[in-house]
Amino acid sequence: MNIFDQFVIPPSQEHVGLLTVMQIISLLTFLPFAGIMLGASSFSLFFNSKGKRSGNPLYTQIAKDIIDKLIVGKAAGFALSVLPMISIVLVYAQMLNGAKVITVSMLFLSLILFIVGYVFIYNYKSAFQFEHILNAAKKDEVSDEVKSYENKIVYMGARYGTWGIFVLLVSMFLFTSGVTLASKPGIWNSVDNILKLIITPSIWVNFAYFLSSSAAITGGAILYFFFVWQGGVRPGYTEYNEAIKKFSIITALVGVLVQPLFIFANVLFLKAANASSGVYVFAGLSLLAVLIISNLLYHIYKNSEINFSGIVFFLIFVLFAFTIIKDQLMFRNAAREHLIVLNMKAEELAQEKSGSIVQVSAADGEKIYSEKCIACHRFDQKVVGPPYQETVPKYSGDLKKLAGFIYNPQKVNPDYPAMPNQGLKQKEAEAVAKYIMDKVGKK
Ligand code: HEC
Repeated sequence: MNIFDQFVIPPSQEHVGLLTVMQIISLLTFLPFAGIMLGASSFSLFFNSKGKRSGNPLYTQIAKDIIDKLIVGKAAGFALSVLPMISIVLVYAQMLNGAKVITVSMLFLSLILFIVGYVFIYNYKSAFQFEHILNAAKKDEVSDEVKSYENKIVYMGARYGTWGIFVLLVSMFLFTSGVTLASKPGIWNSVDNILKLIITPSIWVNFAYFLSSSAAITGGAILYFFFVWQGGVRPGYTEYNEAIKKFSIITALVGVLVQPLFIFANVLFLKAANASSGVYVFAGLSLLAVLIISNLLYHIYKNSEINFSGIVFFLIFVLFAFTIIKDQLMFRNAAREHLIVLNMKAEELAQEKSGSIVQVSAADGEKIYSEKCIACHRFDQKVVGPPYQETVPKYSGDLKKLAGFIYNPQKVNPDYPAMPNQGLKQKEAEAVAKYIMDKVGKK
């Protein structure tokens, strides 16, 4: 039982469309932000320890600049990550209302951990700034007291950074699990705890996909914010600029170039239930974006055409958008049956409210059959549609599911044309489903 089920109402058909749009916008805000946050803190920590080890202040400078430029102010960060995340949890809670799946709990846990990681990373950022103020103040003589204070801050800062990255990784793993699971109704029942998430390969594929996207967008963001935006961070400082340029191009390039692997894996193992032409179109568009981005990155690398980095950064966002839309389409396709049941519930609630509930008895089921279905269906012989005796037993007594098909028919058997929607009310669909099921059962 999901606690969220008590707070949300089942969405109607139009409502589901709106929720999907909201979901795409929220994901397109949250995922790039989370990717940059994770990437920037990892790279900063990496350069920081490299600086400490080699004693080269250039690296420490890079470490500080990355975190300064790429991690936006606390309030803006909150608006760009935690708020859309809350909205994502709520939308899934609505779409998966009543479903036996741990998606919403996992997303909620991920949200809590994300906030913890977020606080750690901002502490890391502050410790950094502190260290530099201290450095500036101690120009000539340094008392032991200041020295021990400095060591403490350096130690704490690195600690916050490491923990922050770890917690963010766990949070994003849970987030990926929740979203991946939502698109796989076949395993909703079996994958019901965190241990089982860890042994589900498709979750790891999507998680690796997120990590590569994180590298790509962080590399793109460094290129853009260090070299183009407001004239660059340290124009004229050649050694610094060469080091950071090479690093960010390679990171972005590797991050982008491994993506086709995941896109192919995703599409090749696509279940029929998730597929639709839209999914293939957006997978294709993603591949196209990968091609253009890697070409541009190569150009920047070879010819120092750093001005391309604005376009690269923008195109990585577009790549995110394509992938997110593809994933949401896959989710909608996969959860189709569940969503139809929800739509029916919503209609029922709306009718209850307006007091127009119609009582439909079993006799009406027979009447509807002989008025609307008999033209194409008999029980034991093929007309335009298949005989009920062949198709109905497959529902093994699941009246809701059969009514769901009659209410909103989907393509099933390639040997037949698609069944046109008969425009029945949800109650009518249930009545005729009951009539058919009873009659098939008796024979
Ligand atoms: C214009 C013709 C037509 C009408 C009218 C029609 N159907 Fe169908 N029906 C079909 C066709 C064609 C199929 C096969 C669709 C497929 O396999 O994709 C089908 C399939 C079905 C199936 C099998 C679904 C499955 O999972 O294999 C059921 C059940 C069904 N119809 C019930 C009904 C009911 C109930 C009505 C009346 C309310 C109705 N149909 C009206 C043409 C029709």
